[in-house]
Amino acid sequence: MNIVIFGTGYVGLTTGTALAYLGHLVTCVDIDEKKIAALRGGSVPIFEPSLGELMKLARENLSFSTRPEEALQDADVVFLAVGTPSSANGHGQADLSAVCAAATSIGENLRDGFTVVVNKSTVPIGSGNWVESIIADAHSSEDPHRLFTVASNPEFLREGTAIRDILYPDRVVVGSANPAAQAILRELYQPILDQSFEAPLFLPRPKGMSLAPFIATDVASAELIKYASNAFLSVKISFINEIGALAERVGADVTQIALGMGLDSRIGPHFLQAGLGWGGSCFGKDSAALVATAQEYGLEMPIVTAARSINYDLREEVVRRLLGELKILKGRTIGILGLAFKPNTDDLRDAPALDIAERLIERGARVRAHDPVALPNARAKYADSGIHFCDTPEDVVLHSSAVVLATDWPQYRELPWSLLGSSLSDPVILDGRNFLGGDAMAAAGFRYIGLGCQPRDGRPLQRGYVA
Ligand code: UDX
Repeated sequence: MNIVIFGTGYVGLTTGTALAYLGHLVTCVDIDEKKIAALRGGSVPIFEPSLGELMKLARENLSFSTRPEEALQDADVVFLAVGTPSSANGHGQADLSAVCAAATSIGENLRDGFTVVVNKSTVPIGSGNWVESIIADAHSSEDPHRLFTVASNPEFLREGTAIRDILYPDRVVVGSANPAAQAILRELYQPILDQSFEAPLFLPRPKGMSLAPFIATDVASAELIKYASNAFLSVKISFINEIGALAERVGADVTQIALGMGLDSRIGPHFLQAGLGWGGSCFGKDSAALVATAQEYGLEMPIVTAARSINYDLREEVVRRLLGELKILKGRTIGILGLAFKPNTDDLRDAPALDIAERLIERGARVRAHDPVALPNARAKYADSGIHFCDTPEDVVLHSSAVVLATDWPQYRELPWSLLGSSLSDPVILDGRNFLGGDAMAAAGFRYIGLGCQPRDGRPLQRGYVA
């Protein structure tokens, strides 16, 4: 099939590349000329494992453009995968200006055949109808609705494992009342649904994986499935963090609790990792948009609202803990290990590390920070933040009174902690991901603070979640 994808961010680029790999002819469109030029030149503008390798394998089917007019003339399916950041009004609504611009361009360039326009961006419930009206208004003919339909096909990909999540999904959800659109999108995803494609060598098919069901729904249900899934995962994380706060008070260990809970198949082990909570482009934005949408209908969403306040209070809790340990923050240097909102990405959106750094600087502390991958991004975007960015984690630890581990990059476990500990007097580590192991850190000479954990006695740390 011929596919056009609007937006070359984490969703658009990974989806476009995967579809090209499956044999579809894909044109990825973006208004950012520099980015398109770089993509044409073979560079990959984001850090996403397996993406570069897959782009190489798919290159014959993959092209990039800033001018969608031509590509739209052949497109069977057009994906909207442009950004929908929280709008500047602070009420949680998503900013849909990029969706609007893309829909207008689609309407102006609708071909004579039938085109399925797919909302892949996370858009508020009801956006399907709204996008449909923009496309129709932008088209010149009397009856544009015979030429296209708008479907919803939410993405569930996680940054860091996006290609794996697209090729080997748990489910494919398509919302459309139009049987032709349902059939076209089922055909588009058929190689994924029946796993008939040849798995890339660098990303083998998971052993024992079940085939993903194709869930056909109405548009609003598909839109809400996306929000409800992200909100549920956010609630799960905040729930385990709430339990973690109590665990600490009663002398329990939240990682043990998560392990014991997660083995109940009704609960499941995923998303029970207590610590600094969620960041990233989705959970914060989507939970805010869900609450804002509900308010438009006169509904409160107390569970999601509580999950949000628990999550964002964790960032202040880190500052409270550091104050408790160091007594005075003014003039002290605090180190931060990890800036990306999670490992295996260079994405800094809503990253707890940056929020914590800002709060510390406001209180007069100095902040040194490192990230194995996101450092260039951080240097470019936060040049005026007052954060001192360091090229090595050692350079952070050796010059700080206390260190906060904000992102659980595996390489931080491998640091020469004993050497670092012995070079410092009374070093403190606040392990914001309960990742380094209290025993190991205590043995290395650090005062170890976990979130929801007690000091350990030398037994190996058991992780209480499956990442
Ligand atoms: C999420 C959803 O998982 C994905 O389905 C959706 O399409 C996009 O949003 P992503 O934001 O890439 O994906 O990352 P995810 O792996 O879900 O992690 C989100 C945040 O939650 C990270 O900051 C992570 O550190 C945190 N997290 C995750 C926890 O604090 N504890 C956990 O147990 C799991």
